[in-house]
Amino acid sequence: MAEQLANTEGEPPAIAALSIAETATQPVSQAVEQHIDPWSVSAGTDAQGQALQFDYEAISKKWSTKLVDDALLERFEKLTGRKPHRWLRRGLFFSHRDFDLILDCYERGDKFFLYTGRGPSSGSLHIGHTIPFEFTKWLQDVFDVPLVIMLTDDEKALFKDNLTFEETMAFSRKEAKDIIAMGFDVKKTFIYSDLKYVGYGGGHMLLNAWEFSKLLPFNQVRGAFGFNESTNIGRIFFPSLQCVAAFGTSYPHIWGDDPHSDFRSADTAAIPCLIPCAIDQDPYFRLVRENCNRMGNPSPKAALIHSKFLTALQGPGGKMSASNPNSAIFMDDTPNQIKKKINSHAYSGGQETAELQRELGGNPDVDVSYQYLTYFEEDDEKLADMYAKYKSGELLTGELKKECIRVMQEYVTAFQASRAKVSDEILADYMTPRKLTWNGNPNPNLE
Ligand code: TRP
Repeated sequence: MAEQLANTEGEPPAIAALSIAETATQPVSQAVEQHIDPWSVSAGTDAQGQALQFDYEAISKKWSTKLVDDALLERFEKLTGRKPHRWLRRGLFFSHRDFDLILDCYERGDKFFLYTGRGPSSGSLHIGHTIPFEFTKWLQDVFDVPLVIMLTDDEKALFKDNLTFEETMAFSRKEAKDIIAMGFDVKKTFIYSDLKYVGYGGGHMLLNAWEFSKLLPFNQVRGAFGFNESTNIGRIFFPSLQCVAAFGTSYPHIWGDDPHSDFRSADTAAIPCLIPCAIDQDPYFRLVRENCNRMGNPSPKAALIHSKFLTALQGPGGKMSASNPNSAIFMDDTPNQIKKKINSHAYSGGQETAELQRELGGNPDVDVSYQYLTYFEEDDEKLADMYAKYKSGELLTGELKKECIRVMQEYVTAFQASRAKVSDEILADYMTPRKLTWNGNPNPNLE
């Protein structure tokens, strides 16, 4: 093919043809390693060019995080009196840094807070986006602590050439409504747009970001973030903002500190923070963990709990993408759209025909409908039963898909009912800087 192109009518090869020829002469058998950074993730390919599944244990090892294990979950259950969330039981939140220290805080009845965020890039969420928020809401309910949600409209405008700051600010407001629809307690939750909030009061968050940026030589961050000499300087500064969002002093109003003072409280800086996030955000928080004790008011190392990526409908190695409507189920999809997407796009681990399925059984481990059921079906026994029956061939692909469609329709419909109630006034309530109230001593086992 490349030769044909290059030799067309005896002409010298065009540049395009040249590059085709070059790739064609390379061995096709080059495996591509998985790659994960905050802006691009790919599971890589095998020697035949087939998409691989992410190797999460390898990431954990490479980045020296700890795997969530049974001992940790047992301790969690013992302390909180709550069964670990199904996403912990089933390994969707699979890795952590210092989650055990947060449990120590909880055990002692010490103050801590939760921080998570989202880059508002489209104004509408798919199910993959809702996972960290659902999980964070559950943690907030269990621990009864304050929560901040950062909407990085600055980041999105800086990193996407086709988006303006005005557009990303509008996305912040729209996506904040979706986030609110997940049921966060307004008394304990502050949601903010970076572009609107950083200058609030005496500008403590921005002050933190400048102070933090002073600690970071460019050569320390360029590798982790893939920056080079042509990177715009907004992108280079931005990580300090995402990092200092883990410091209590960025939100003086939450704790009742004076937001207009030039001084940030050392006590507030000492409040620990737990960040639930997808594993691709870890490079930011390694920076904050490495440098937090060098701030004028030192903060403890932020703790993290990391999730895997949700599999795209098309199957292994894919990530759901807002720009590909068939890769994901969106939170504004109709029941019929959900049915159609799952029926025609969900990658199946079943056999070609019902007869073959009965005879040989299917493979639930690669089946996307089964994967989605592991995310959203609460009942462990029911799930185990479906797994066994699908594997043995008793359950057919169509039946498994039907179950997945039902569960997904239920999830999305409940979300939409809740979303319809989020008015502009409610949005303003969550996004107004104010004092939050929570139970200061969350541990039911403490006297
Ligand atoms: N950078 C994240 C994104 O693009 C948004 C974000 C900011 C975030 N702070 C966070 C995500 C903390 C998780 C936890 O989506």
